[in-house]
Amino acid sequence: MDDIKNAPEHSFFLLHPCAHNPTGVDPTEEQWREISHQFKVKNHFPFFDTAYQGLASGDLDRDAKAIRIFHEDGHLIGCAQSFAKIMGLHGHRVGCLSILSVDEKQAIAIRSQLQQIARAMYGSPPVHGSLLVSTILGDPELKALWEEEVKVMVDRIIRMRAALRRSLEKLGSCLNWEHITNQVGMFCFSGLSPEQVDQLVREFHIYMTCDGRISMAGVTTSNVDYLANAIHEVSRY
Ligand SMILES: Cc1ncc(COP(=O)(O)O)c(C=O)c1O
Repeated sequence: MDDIKNAPEHSFFLLHPCAHNPTGVDPTEEQWREISHQFKVKNHFPFFDTAYQGLASGDLDRDAKAIRIFHEDGHLIGCAQSFAKIMGLHGHRVGCLSILSVDEKQAIAIRSQLQQIARAMYGSPPVHGSLLVSTILGDPELKALWEEEVKVMVDRIIRMRAALRRSLEKLGSCLNWEHITNQVGMFCFSGLSPEQVDQLVREFHIYMTCDGRISMAGVTTSNVDYLANAIHEVSRY
């Protein structure tokens, strides 16, 4: 909030609307309302970077709440959506850029600017992934099936969070691991130091970013105890 208040008027802010990477900690609805209000006061431009819609709560609508709050408050909004995680399309480079404009004239101007930028980056973009996404989103039955599958993925990750925490507590770790189950989305910001991460790599062949961020999508019933044991070994002293 201090950064938002202290930034010069009309600043551009990039926001993660849900399942914040890397912390897994999202503002509450109340806090989003305050953030949106402060954006109004300072005339800042909110640009949403959304790569995990659905992966925070299992519900696409619920995870779009932050964007809807800004929309209701009358902001012009930019939004970059990625389908890499929520549709398992890593490497297909598929996303969607949306910019809300005041009228058609502005929309045409924005589109021609974006087309110029895109043209300089590629001649012919990969099409397979975007055809998969548009086929699924354009068919109510396929979309409903996909939404069910998102919920299955999220519930599995939530179960793995609980299992990891339980396993660490059972091993007798005297550290507090509540954040594992309090955080949401794909990542667990474990609190492990770069030295501990290094030890996990060298001695246990467990890999994560050096800030201690674990991809919970890689945790399964067959490796969760091994992971907990390794985390306990590097954090017990
Ligand atoms: C918030 C956020 N936006 C975008 C991306 C990348 O999306 P893409 O793989 O579609 O470039 C990531 C992670 O990979 C992310 O965490």
